[in-house]
Amino acid sequence: MEDQLPVNPVRRKAPNIMITGTPGVGKSRLCNQISEMTGLQWLEISKIAKEYSCLEEFDEVYQCPVLDEDKLLDGLEEIMCVGGNIVDYHSCEFFPERWFDVVFVLRTDNTLLYDRLVTRGYTGKKLEDNMDCEIFQTVLEEAKSSYKEEIVHELHSNTAEQLEFNANNICLWIQEWFDRHQVQSVNQAEVETHVTSEVQMA
Ligand SMILES: Nc1ncnc2c1ncn2[C@@H]1O[C@H](COP(=O)(O)OP(=O)(O)OP(=O)(O)O)[C@@H](O)[C@H]1O
Ligand SMILES: [Mg+2]
Repeated sequence: MEDQLPVNPVRRKAPNIMITGTPGVGKSRLCNQISEMTGLQWLEISKIAKEYSCLEEFDEVYQCPVLDEDKLLDGLEEIMCVGGNIVDYHSCEFFPERWFDVVFVLRTDNTLLYDRLVTRGYTGKKLEDNMDCEIFQTVLEEAKSSYKEEIVHELHSNTAEQLEFNANNICLWIQEWFDRHQVQSVNQAEVETHVTSEVQMA
């Protein structure tokens, strides 16, 4: 019988955080803010996938390119093992569960989200599908079925005040992670430099 690998064989230097939710709920704004406040590295998966050629043919129905998940995951493995990353993507189930210490799912009221998506120029099926995704809380259910429920947190993302509140609370969570793991006076800049130098996508 094969020996089972431990769930989390590498002790991370800093936590890995997942910020997920339907397109338009405010993931990028929040991640940008947390990254500036903590020095943790913001990994905007849509951009990374494009930069490192992890996109396959264009899906005409969903009006977006298809992601080569295996290539993306292989490219990210090393930096995720080091830790100190904020992963920003509208889906979360295909990432390895062992990568994340906490998962935040942003939620936006339907009318506000509708306006944000229309402002972006979304129309027709793309607009409808994204609205359905939020109405049926697809990403929240996905997160709950892919990660331990106790690490999955739903956050309201309707207003600027909520953005500030969420950013401050996540920064507190990050500080508590360092305290819990007895990492003394962590120099976040050092963490960031180390992580950046590890980015070696295939
Ligand atoms: N808490 C908030 N209050 C008010 N407006 C917000 C809030 N969060 C985001 N927005 C606005 O909503 C729009 C979408 O935000 P953002 O681009 O961060 O969403 P996203 O979740 O990253 O979308 P995508 O999945 O397409 O990348 C932007 O115009 C942003 O300024
Ligand atoms: Mg975004």
